[in-house]
Amino acid sequence: MIGDWLDIGPVDQIAPGTARTLPVRGGEEIAVFHTTHGEFFALVNKCPHKHGPLSQGIVHGTVVTCPLHSWNISLKTGEAQGEDKGCVPTIPLRVDAGRIYLLRSAVVGAKAPEPQAA
Ligand code: FES
Repeated sequence: MIGDWLDIGPVDQIAPGTARTLPVRGGEEIAVFHTTHGEFFALVNKCPHKHGPLSQGIVHGTVVTCPLHSWNISLKTGEAQGEDKGCVPTIPLRVDAGRIYLLRSAVVGAKAPEPQAA
C-alpha cells in the first residue's frame, strides 16, 4: 500500500519546534510540523480564522499559535482552541524508517475552510 503514501523526505529536514511547507499542484499548501517532543503533524497551511500561514506560527506542545492574530490551533485535530471556533483539515501522516509519509488522497483532496469575517 506504499503507493497511497507520499514520501516527503527525511524527518531531520524539519527542526524540532518548526514546520516546513509542501506545495501541492492544484491543491492547498500543506504545513508539516515537528514538535519539540518528536511528533509530526500535517495540516493545510491556512488558519481557520483568516488563512494565516500556520507554518510560520509558534509551536508549543501539540498546538501552533497563528502568526497573524494568535489563535491557537491543535496540530492533532486542526481545531481552534478556547473561545475561537474553526477547524483546518489535518493530513494523515506516518513516519517509517526515518522518512515522513503523507496520505496522498488527503494531500490532493485537502480544502481550506472559508476565512471568517471576524
Ligand atoms: S488568521 Fe490566524 S488567528 Fe487570524
